[in-house]
Amino acid sequence: MLAIAHGLPFNDVADVSLGCAQGIGRGTVRQLCQAGARLVIADLNDAKGQDVVESLEKFGQEQRHVTYMHVDVSSYDSVLALFKSALDLHGRVDMAIHCAGITEIGGWFAPGTDIASVTTPPTTKVLEVNLFGSLYFTHVAVAAMGHNRAAQSSDNKSITLVSSIAGFKESPGLFTYSASKHGIVGLMRSSRAYLHSTRNVRINVICPWATDTQMIGGVRDIWTQNSLPMNDPDDVARIILQCAVDATIHGKAVYVADGKGFDIEEGLDRSEPDWLGEKQARDLAKGQAALGTVSDSDTSLACIISNGPSVQGSAWTGNKGSQ
Ligand SMILES: NC(=O)c1ccc[n+]([C@@H]2O[C@H](COP(=O)([O-])OP(=O)(O)OC[C@H]3O[C@@H](n4cnc5c(N)ncnc54)[C@H](O)[C@@H]3O)[C@@H](O)[C@H]2O)c1
Repeated sequence: MLAIAHGLPFNDVADVSLGCAQGIGRGTVRQLCQAGARLVIADLNDAKGQDVVESLEKFGQEQRHVTYMHVDVSSYDSVLALFKSALDLHGRVDMAIHCAGITEIGGWFAPGTDIASVTTPPTTKVLEVNLFGSLYFTHVAVAAMGHNRAAQSSDNKSITLVSSIAGFKESPGLFTYSASKHGIVGLMRSSRAYLHSTRNVRINVICPWATDTQMIGGVRDIWTQNSLPMNDPDDVARIILQCAVDATIHGKAVYVADGKGFDIEEGLDRSEPDWLGEKQARDLAKGQAALGTVSDSDTSLACIISNGPSVQGSAWTGNKGSQ
């Protein structure tokens, strides 16, 4: 999905967002629109995508700044067409938000599998949509953000991807989903320093726990029976927007639970000597520095969270300085 933002707080910012027709993406588009954004939004589900555009009418004139496009994020050509259209329409892209995703499709490690039954490879669709889609989206977004600008332009440019709790915690049975979501966190970690230093593009990943959309239909009853916290899609959308807009937030993986955000990267980095040992942490840091792979976002990693140290991670509400 692409969104071009116009007016405060976006100040003539152009934004692309994908996976907008329902759930978290729909909430994100609504909040962008409320904030005065001009948007190009995209999804596979055209009926629901058009419905989003129509539902935005209540926000008045901003509605005419919303364009819907059919995009299959697992197709490179489709992603390329999305960003080309965004540039044609608005001349620039400042924010790119990728919410599209699908959950596990069966077929991997089925009970009773033996050598005779594995002659056909199982589906890789989840990887194609969630992981390849995020790679395609990020690749083209970076190019589009540099269009008609100096590479190091100081404009506020950001990419926001959506991973999951399954991107950093054990998720039994979600074999390809979890692999894809870990991959998205890996993409953010491996590209944050490079994109920031060479293109002045920020990249962040959102890792929601259970969020009340159709995607969790299969486990909703378990959540209710165990009184577990459930995110509202608008809570996740609020944190997505915060990462997309706030020029000081870079290189983050933000876990979202019970409507609050928790910065995983800061806690992991700070507590590394505890779980890896002082010597290993020191040697590792030396090796990373020697390879030149230390993130130039380390400064922001240390300063974004102003709630004080906590090995468990700091509560991050999207408002710096508040719990
Ligand atoms: N709901 C949760 O509990 C939860 C938890 C963790 C992470 N997530 C992630 O959040 C994101 C949004 O999920 P949601 O809960 O809003 O789900 P959802 O199913 O409500 O929305 C997903 C959207 O992605 C679109 N989409 C699917 N395949 C596509 C493709 N190939 N090209 C373009 N669009 C495509 C769908 O049409 C839909 O509009 C996903 O990446 C999901 O993995 C959700």
